This record gives sequence, C-alpha cells and structure tokens, in this order.
Amino acid sequence: MKLFVYHTPELTPEMTGDCRPDCAIAIDVLRATTTMAAALQNGAEAVQAFSDLSVLMATSEDWPAERRIRIGERGGKMMEGCDLGNSPLDCTADRVKGRRLFMSTTNGTRSLEKIAAAPTVMTAALTNRNGVVDALLELQPQTVWMTGSGWEGSFSLEDTVAAGAIAAALLPHLKDDWAGNDEAIAALALFELWRDRLPELMRLASHGQRLLRLGNTADLDYCAQLDVVPTVPIQRETGVLVARTI
Ligand code: MLT
Repeated sequence: MKLFVYHTPELTPEMTGDCRPDCAIAIDVLRATTTMAAALQNGAEAVQAFSDLSVLMATSEDWPAERRIRIGERGGKMMEGCDLGNSPLDCTADRVKGRRLFMSTTNGTRSLEKIAAAPTVMTAALTNRNGVVDALLELQPQTVWMTGSGWEGSFSLEDTVAAGAIAAALLPHLKDDWAGNDEAIAALALFELWRDRLPELMRLASHGQRLLRLGNTADLDYCAQLDVVPTVPIQRETGVLVARTI
C-alpha cells in the first residue's frame, strides 16, 4: 500500500486511465467529513454531497420532506433555505435516523467531487480515523490518495494532520517505501508533533479561528477527538455516501 497526500482538491491530480488510485479518501475535519461520519453513525440513510447548492435544492425537492435534511454551509455559516449548517453536533439520532442528508459545504463536498471517480471512495476525519484504517487494512488497496479539503484552495492544518493520523496507524503494516509523495511524510510528521494536542491545533488552524470567531467552540472540540466514531462513509454511487458495512 502506497499513500499519497494532497493538501487540497486543486492539488489532487485529475483522474485519468493510468493516473487513478485504487482508493481515494476525502478529508475535511472542520467539519464536513466529521459531520458525515456522525450522521451515518446516528442512522442517516445516506449523505448525498453537492458542490452546487442550487443543484442540491432542486434534487432534494424530489425527496419526501419528512425523509430529507438539507445541510448548506458557506464560510462556516448555515445557508438560507437549509435545515442545518454543518455542525456534527446537530446530527443527533433523533434528527437524522432514516433520513437522507443533502449536503453542500464550502470545501468538503468539492474535495469529494474531485475524487469521486476512484474505484473506492471513503471520507475520513479524526473522529473515525481507526475505522478508516481498519477498512484500508481489509481492502488492501495498492494506492491510496488522501485529499484534504483546505479552504478555498489553501492548505488546512487539520486536514493534513488527519491524513498523518491515518498514515501513523497504518505504518506498522506498511513497507519502507509506503510514502507515495513528500506530502505523505510531512503529514505523518505533523501528526506525530500534534497527536497529543489536537484541540490546541484546531484552535491554531485558520478555519478553527474562523469558527471561534463565529462562537463555535463545541464543534472544534468534537472534531478534535480521535477514534470515537466507528462508522466509515463509503461512496455507493457518485456523490452518495453510506455507512460501510463489514
Ligand atoms: C468546509 O467544507 O470547508 C467546511 O466543512 C466548512 C465548515 O462547515 O466549517
């Protein structure tokens, strides 16, 4: 298994015939992929991701209102006409069980769209890191791309540290030539430095500071937790994620 880390969707190569990983993982710790894992853990039927909010609104119109939830976020704030912003803490079982989440966020849903053509697509956060690692050890893909969501094309500390967390847990099972690119080694080093101070890292991160300015400390602390959610979102059809069953 060879791991490649790309800090943003923009830095992730276009998938063509011979340039395609066996497995691609979208990471958006603050907060989209943390929210996806929480929602599917709490019984959501599926998460359907859209980079375009207007397409989300039109598509979800065909879904029975009592079985859909619209999650729309831009700039960390909930969008008008949606039911929820993008807080994982809002995705309680009472609210999401049996419902489909139609979701569009500033960056996370875009990174998912970028990697959608891979044979296996999953999403990861710090909260479900071990579940993702277990899935990779079971599936044994030869090549894995981990795509951070960043912020509008820029690097995000939290996404790359989550990629490093996955690499760190996989390391005992990998050969010496495990790193597919320099970013993979850098991500591991970043995680090794911050593994015991993840809440502090969230507050240092630029998007963490953006959420703090919006008064949202609870999400930061939830998103900083390691290995607390077993559920792994996996793509069943393009843009539609369900809880991976073992
Ligand atoms: C993103 O898509 O960049 C994030 O999920 C934004 C957020 O919800 O805080």
